[in-house]
Amino acid sequence: MRVVVTGARGQLGTDLVQVLGKEHEVFGFSHQELDVTDFDHTVEIITNLSPDMVIHAAAYTDVDGCELDPDKAYKVNALGTQNITIACQKTNSSMLYISTDFVFDGRKTEPYTEFDIPNPISVYGSSKLAGERYVSSLLLRYFIVRTAWLYGKHGKNFVKTILRLAEEREELKVVNDQIGSPTYSLDLAQAIAKLINTEWYGIYHITNSGNCSWFDFARKILEYAGKKEVKVKPIGSAELNRPAKRPAFSVLRNYCLELRGFPALRNYEDALKEYLSCLSAGR
Ligand SMILES: NC(=O)c1ccc[n+]([C@@H]2O[C@H](COP(=O)([O-])OP(=O)(O)OC[C@H]3O[C@@H](n4cnc5c(N)ncnc54)[C@H](OP(=O)(O)O)[C@@H]3O)[C@@H](O)[C@H]2O)c1
Repeated sequence: MRVVVTGARGQLGTDLVQVLGKEHEVFGFSHQELDVTDFDHTVEIITNLSPDMVIHAAAYTDVDGCELDPDKAYKVNALGTQNITIACQKTNSSMLYISTDFVFDGRKTEPYTEFDIPNPISVYGSSKLAGERYVSSLLLRYFIVRTAWLYGKHGKNFVKTILRLAEEREELKVVNDQIGSPTYSLDLAQAIAKLINTEWYGIYHITNSGNCSWFDFARKILEYAGKKEVKVKPIGSAELNRPAKRPAFSVLRNYCLELRGFPALRNYEDALKEYLSCLSAGR
């Protein structure tokens, strides 16, 4: 297939270009090369390439930034996605849109399936859900892939932040009242590679297996990185007083993958171990 990837220099986008490049002809576009808020340029690039599929990984992902600047959030995450969708209509391309666990309010006590009703509690979640709605209302052949708590080799993420802070401080404070499924972007890219070889269009939750709080995750990171001596103190989200609310529980059950007979992604702990060994080996 000819595949276009937006946000190709982002954490997930970089892995997608690398993984999909083994099997497909991939055209990755960075923010600089393709600003999805520019309708004319977006349509021009996609119509010139006439791809079989567009994977839209670009987004304004700063959750607190979105809360402070809703216009930017909706412009990039909602209307930017609408622009990609319209371009796909013109070229009859199928589309895969990356969405988020933050479309849910977090009030459930068991993992969310694709059949649960979204109810975002932040501007980021709401703008990403608006993107989902453009995709599902304007196209017939689309995948919406909701993922969560991403970390990868490229870009900033929680794992790298914890490793950096562990060098600077003796004690870290990490929230213990948000539960989710940390997901290695390389594992997600590989799962997406399998999904796009099917015609089973629709919404999918894709995360590594297992779940934990950010506090548990920080402790695992330090343990696997051989820095167990660094203390971690559990705190409540209220103590951080951040602009955007986060769902208290946003574990995604990968239910449609299960029903379609795909193997579950590996446990987040095994993925984390591999990620840390790649990081320390500079791979
Ligand atoms: N990170 C997570 O924990 C997480 C969780 C669930 C879902 N997701 C979703 O997963 C996808 C990938 O996330 P990620 O972690 O890889 O994020 P990321 O590293 O922030 O990558 C997003 C990329 O989008 C680019 N971008 C921003 N505005 C753009 C625009 N107007 N036009 C074109 N490109 C633009 C960014 O470029 P600049 O940096 O140059 O602006 C960046 O390279 C996103 O759709 C996100 O919503 C992420």
